[in-house]
Amino acid sequence: MSVLRQPLLLLSRSDAVRRLVSTMPVSSGIVRSYVPGETTDAAVATSAELVDGGLKVTLDFLGEDTTDLAQADATVEAYVELLAQLSARGLARHAEVSVKLSAIGQALERSERGTGHQVALENARRICRAARNAGTTVTLDMEDHTTTDSTLAVLRDLRKDFPETGAVLQAYLHRTEADCRELAHEGSRVRLCKGAYDEPEEVAYQSRLDVDTAYVRCLKILLAGQGYPMIATHDPRMVEIASSLASRYGRERGTYEFQMLYGIRPEEQRRLAGAGETVRVYLPYGGEWYGYLMRRLAERPQNLTFFLRSLISK
Ligand code: FDA
Repeated sequence: MSVLRQPLLLLSRSDAVRRLVSTMPVSSGIVRSYVPGETTDAAVATSAELVDGGLKVTLDFLGEDTTDLAQADATVEAYVELLAQLSARGLARHAEVSVKLSAIGQALERSERGTGHQVALENARRICRAARNAGTTVTLDMEDHTTTDSTLAVLRDLRKDFPETGAVLQAYLHRTEADCRELAHEGSRVRLCKGAYDEPEEVAYQSRLDVDTAYVRCLKILLAGQGYPMIATHDPRMVEIASSLASRYGRERGTYEFQMLYGIRPEEQRRLAGAGETVRVYLPYGGEWYGYLMRRLAERPQNLTFFLRSLISK
């Protein structure tokens, strides 16, 4: 993997750099290519365009690692407003939401409303209820490995009332094959990605080859299982392998889907959709784009030059 990956991922958690860089407007080149806008209106407008082009969408109101209860509540409100707009615009059949639990309280110290875990669960319930009312679903994003147990416990609790709730699993974690087995049951929606955080070798595969082979092992479990696999990757080899595994396990189109991030390989997104596959675009929006952008730069350090140039010229 690139030598720049680890420093960039470390920077993604730096508050000082976040404060400096976040003064850049979202419209500046490199940010704009990954985050189409800051407002709900902009996110809904971009969703409508993607849906018109035959794609589905999952929207992420950007934010993470919140240590402020009021900010966590404000994030919940933003999701509730977004879901109401998606419903009003007739988009909810094609657009769902993705939620980072650390943005809605998971990282909080104990407060008058309980532990961070409890606050995140209570807030996630509100978002799931709003999604249910709008006629769509919620998928829980997965963050660094210290949060995996808590996130999967929140998922289990949410599914008692909202069984349509999905979650992300990260192939680079050693534990993930076992988690895939556990979540490959009927009605379960699992988004499989490679994993975007800086993880130690005690818990995660480090080389590209090991991560890729783990991804394929997880794909086999999910595609052979009874759930609804959401194959989240831009890697052409993984897309090809997933397609042939889907045929091998007798999966009809529409019993699984491909997912890619907004701005990455858009022509491939359209190609797959044109070939009859279900393709969903992960669409982040909002002012808190810093951590998200740094993870994208860590995946593709070639983009760093563009980013630094736009910082200097601001
Ligand atoms: P890989 O990194 O090998 O990239 C394959 C090819 O894709 C590259 O050769 C390049 O062409 C293109 N590409 C990849 N990244 C690019 C970039 N930033 N800019 C331009 N081109 C790029 N992670 C996580 O830890 N928790 C989560 O909840 C999620 N959620 C999530 C949802 C969805 C829908 C997707 C697609 C991804 C995630 N991820 C994630 C991110 C994921 O873990 C992973 O970091 C990226 O998808 C990159 O991995 P690839 O599988 O694309 O392969």
